Amino acid sequence: MCVWIMLVHQGMFRTECRDGHFWLTVGSGFLGRMFRFDTEGRSGVHTVSDQRAAICGYTMLLDSWGNLVLRASYLACDVDTRVGSRDLMVWFVNKEANDEETSYPFLLTCPLQQWSPREIMCEENYMEVKGIDLEVISITIFYRYQWTLFKVDASVACNKGTMDGTYILWSIPQILPPLVQGPVRNQGARMGVGGRLLSACLIQQRGYKMEVRDGVVEVRIPFGAVGGQIKSHVMAGRYSQSYSVDLFYVQQWGDAQWTLTRHRSFRPLWTTPSPHSPRLVNLTVPEEGDFSVTLGVFPPDVSLANVTIATLTVPLAGAEELGLRVTQVPFPNGTHAYLLQVPFPHPLVSQKVQEHPCGKYRRYTLAVTFTLLISPHREVFTHSASVVCDLQDVVLPRVEGRCTDKTMKLTLHRGNMDTQWAIFFGNHRLEPDLVEFGGYSLEAADDYFTVEVPLYSLGMAYEDLSLQGLLANVAVSVLDVETGAVEQTFIQRCTFHVRELMVCLPNSWMVVVVDTARVVPPLDPRDIALLDPSCRPKEMDRTRALFSFSLDSCGTIQGVNLVYVNEVRYMPRYLPIPQPFFHPFYYYRQPLGCRYPLNGTRTLAIYQSRLWPLSRTRPSQHNPFVRAERG
Ligand SMILES: *[C@@H]1O[C@H](CO)[C@@H](O)[C@H](O)[C@H]1NC(C)=O
Ligand SMILES: *[C@@H]1O[C@H](CO)[C@@H](O)[C@H](O)[C@H]1NC(C)=O
Ligand SMILES: *[C@@H]1O[C@H](CO)[C@@H](O)[C@H](O)[C@H]1NC(C)=O
Ligand SMILES: *[C@@H]1O[C@H](CO)[C@@H](O)[C@H](O)[C@H]1NC(C)=O
Repeated sequence: MCVWIMLVHQGMFRTECRDGHFWLTVGSGFLGRMFRFDTEGRSGVHTVSDQRAAICGYTMLLDSWGNLVLRASYLACDVDTRVGSRDLMVWFVNKEANDEETSYPFLLTCPLQQWSPREIMCEENYMEVKGIDLEVISITIFYRYQWTLFKVDASVACNKGTMDGTYILWSIPQILPPLVQGPVRNQGARMGVGGRLLSACLIQQRGYKMEVRDGVVEVRIPFGAVGGQIKSHVMAGRYSQSYSVDLFYVQQWGDAQWTLTRHRSFRPLWTTPSPHSPRLVNLTVPEEGDFSVTLGVFPPDVSLANVTIATLTVPLAGAEELGLRVTQVPFPNGTHAYLLQVPFPHPLVSQKVQEHPCGKYRRYTLAVTFTLLISPHREVFTHSASVVCDLQDVVLPRVEGRCTDKTMKLTLHRGNMDTQWAIFFGNHRLEPDLVEFGGYSLEAADDYFTVEVPLYSLGMAYEDLSLQGLLANVAVSVLDVETGAVEQTFIQRCTFHVRELMVCLPNSWMVVVVDTARVVPPLDPRDIALLDPSCRPKEMDRTRALFSFSLDSCGTIQGVNLVYVNEVRYMPRYLPIPQPFFHPFYYYRQPLGCRYPLNGTRTLAIYQSRLWPLSRTRPSQHNPFVRAERG
């Protein structure tokens, strides 16, 4: 193995002995504004210029990762061959930003190796023009003949790589006619990358192929295979990738003149960038409650800058705060992908309820744009996608009701739809005005609220009045504000106990409940009638009587302006009153009345009694009823 004398900046320099070569690698991060290599031999110190490199068997290049590589043949100029080893003294000279040069000396030492009589190298610095497809280029041949080292220039085919589907293809004649004398004994070929030969097993594992077809050796390396490097680009706004690999190929043969010729080729192969759309994978599992998508697979030169969901751009640092998760998923081969997780109910996720024969379902849509950067030049590209998930998780608004003595309590459960609802009580929209004027009381919780509607207030409608009570209802409807569609209707009915009540129906009909227990001693409801004594109660219990009559009957008097009046009086069933003026019930009078609007539409009107005059005195002149509700 190599020994190197400089231990400073460990990790930035790497020295190795690889098949027939010294390798010195300088990390890309260490390279200054300008840099060079000098070698030191018996004839002094020489700078490795392009020309000297070509003559002396050096190669200087930037590899696919941007590292500087010096490759020196064991037979290169200034290599000192001693017993058991070869040494090469190299200086890496780095010019810093302040123009000061710093030199780093390395004594490269590699063990002596079985060396074939003739060594041919097809190096990349021989291709003087790095753009033109040169079929034949000049090469340098080192060979040793009877312990003497010779060096000649020759020409040989050193092919450039081409693309063959998803493979990079490089081909070379199995026999190189200019280098062959007489009959040939093929002694095999091996390949590798980065100056290192690979075992057949590794070659197969990486998907490389080496085949001989019509005397031509074809080496195929799949795009992206291990051993090479993928680079990212933006081409015409699209994400693109190129692939490069430093191919190493060694061919050996014997011929009439040479028992063994070893021909080495170092070929940097690369593809031109081609569009490569990142793949979005939908990993969403509805039961897990969130969208889960990955975008990838990216080589290390790609990094995510931010994600835009709906219209909000979220920098990665702020994602967690907004309830989103963005994670980088590394893969063992050095690539990575990004995982984005967004809960379904997140405000940035749109929801739409859809009708389906099997019921309603909700379509959640995540519209996302990933903004990514390519290092080192920070080129930007984006990837947009829309992912949907349909869930049967719709909870519609729901109304519940119950009756209390004097109110109806309606509870509205909001459900989970992302809809703005309008709630109507009868024809009245539930708004602050209605709550105030209707005397409603409101109690709100997170996902429901309760409205208490008092009897006779706005929004309540009346269906029937009997001695069982006043049957009233509140019809609640829930409308989608946007579409106007009625999502729910609900009717709560309650029967409220009443002692006394007067109802004027729009069809000139009146229904009245009177309480005769107000009179002392109590009056038997069987002994009362309207102005027309034949109009007696339709229903009775021990203390109350119910009259129901048309306003053109039962002695009703029509006054001016659609005012109708009548009266409940004491009217014993069997006998006339013997001494009427002294009879305790003689003065019992209960005035009744209805007034309809002169030009308006008639609606049901309901009147609650005030404190009833315990009339043994003259009937009072005013209507004792207080209007309770116009409905
Ligand atoms: C790297 O690994 C990922 C994940 O296993 C895979 O999808 C991708 O194709 C691999 N890339 C290469 C270049 O092999
Ligand atoms: C998102 O990232 C890109 C690329 O760095 C940048 O140009 C853009 O300003 C970022 N957007 C926001 C809102 O931060
Ligand atoms: C994504 O996954 C969900 C859940 O498995 C599925 O309903 C949806 O159709 C998938 N595809 C797209 C493009 O959103
Ligand atoms: C009904 O008549 C009154 C006057 O008697 C008038 O002020 C009112 O505007 C009328 N209403 C309608 C609906 O005609």
